[in-house]
Amino acid sequence: MSTVGNSTNIFWHECPVGKAERQKLLNQQGCVVWITGLSGSGKSTLACSIGRELHTRGKLSYILDGDNLRHGLNKNLGFSPDDRTENIRRVGEVAKLFADAGIICIASLISPYRKDRDACRAMLPDSNFIEVFMNMPLELCEERDPKGLYKLARAGKLKGFTGIDDPYESPLNCEIEIQEKEGTCSTPSEMAGQVVCYLEDKGFLEANK
Ligand code: ADX
Repeated sequence: MSTVGNSTNIFWHECPVGKAERQKLLNQQGCVVWITGLSGSGKSTLACSIGRELHTRGKLSYILDGDNLRHGLNKNLGFSPDDRTENIRRVGEVAKLFADAGIICIASLISPYRKDRDACRAMLPDSNFIEVFMNMPLELCEERDPKGLYKLARAGKLKGFTGIDDPYESPLNCEIEIQEKEGTCSTPSEMAGQVVCYLEDKGFLEANK
């Protein structure tokens, strides 16, 4: 019996089928691929590309996309620092459940604060949290401006926009960094290949022996 946060008198219930058995069933290992970066850096595109590549290889993944989750689970949250922190915390907890289910969970959120991403990392065994930094220059994201939000932010019509008048803290020790090379971006499928190769090298694409 214990107290966790504001919950008192709560009990942890163990289920007979465990993570190892689920992973064996799926022939893979659950983990979290956490994609962070500015709006317009290509996080969602990369997430979809990784999902497609894994599916082709017969591996089960699921995408948790910041914009999409704000249509449901996180629709009561805005973009204040506290709300972003709660947004990331919730997605971290959900991602942890997916990983426990044996699924390769791809989370794609700006997640601008280092401490919030580190808190999600701390929820899992370290090697099961793979931080992918979409390190695209602000100028490129702003030029792309797929949703027209940079334009609004520059015009002062959207306050607290990440990269314009709200901070983005780059990862210090991420597992994978995706950058332009000599001014050109790799294709989404090349970028996805980089991530999937990492997962393969680390043994996530097969069950524990
Ligand atoms: S996070 O900062 O809390 O991680 P999240 O990834 O969920 O953000 O949502 C980001 C998306 O919300 C952006 O892609 C953009 O479409 C939209 N958005 C709306 N207002 C803002 C804002 N002030 N800053 C950043 N993104 C915003």
